[in-house]
Amino acid sequence: MLLCPLDAAPLSRTASGLSCPNGHSFDFAKTGYVNLLPVQNKHSKDPGDSKAMVSARREFLESGLYSPIVEEILRSRSADLLSRAITVLDAGCGEGYYTTRIHAANGGGSRVFGIDISKWAIQSASKRSKEIAWVVGSNARIPLPDASLDWLVCTFGFPIFEEFLRVLKPGGWLLMVDPGADHLLEMRRILYPTLKSFTLPYGEQLAGFKPAEVTTARYLAQLSSQAQISQLLSMTPHQHKSPKAGRDALSKLERLDVTVDVCLRWYQKL
Ligand SMILES: C[S@@+](CC[C@H](N)C(=O)[O-])C[C@H]1O[C@@H](n2cnc3c(N)ncnc32)[C@H](O)[C@@H]1O
Repeated sequence: MLLCPLDAAPLSRTASGLSCPNGHSFDFAKTGYVNLLPVQNKHSKDPGDSKAMVSARREFLESGLYSPIVEEILRSRSADLLSRAITVLDAGCGEGYYTTRIHAANGGGSRVFGIDISKWAIQSASKRSKEIAWVVGSNARIPLPDASLDWLVCTFGFPIFEEFLRVLKPGGWLLMVDPGADHLLEMRRILYPTLKSFTLPYGEQLAGFKPAEVTTARYLAQLSSQAQISQLLSMTPHQHKSPKAGRDALSKLERLDVTVDVCLRWYQKL
């Protein structure tokens, strides 16, 4: 199903990777992923999350502190979607925590893709499962055909809604998972002298989609070491946005109870 990032021609399997009829070829890495991000589509030498950010995220997520978010993702509409053989993309999948759980929740037969612009993220994700198609690529140019997906998931990611609309089938589902107003409130109170009022980075109404449902995963997570606190910080934009004084104050803590407040917004392509 994957398309050549250079000319959008269909890619087919060769002994060592994928190639298109026009002779562009892309090797599989040792761990099985493929890099479909040509250098001319990169805006920096090493785009996306760094190796250190990826390993901090992986360690934090493996602690299970975000597992209620996975449970919420896999409830209701997802359970219904995953009861059939469908095609799913996790766009900006990071190190694949949510992708692998979505794949595991399916009875089999579904095709699951994980795309991220960070080669470090995809390298790490590809060690989680050989049954998922892991691709280094951008949400700005998803290397998949028009109207090819039943479900697209974007957790804490960088959505490009025109592209999401293009790759979804009519009637296909988009699930956006993003921080809510109180997400990590206690951490933000330490980081910033005053807190800004919350705004969603995109509108509730998205062109070409019908909003269907909003649910929330809300609970208190107990961070029990400085390592865990700094891992969580590095998963957020506050790592770069917050003042040094706030980060210094946070770096002195060994424990912190934080509110997790995450919104799941479902949209259906019209
Ligand atoms: C906050 S992380 C979330 C990762 C994962 N979805 C999760 O929740 O664990 C955002 C991810 O988006 C990736 N990213 C940034 N820009 C991207 C783009 N244009 N296309 C695809 N991925 C992108 C980053 O490399 C990073 O892995």
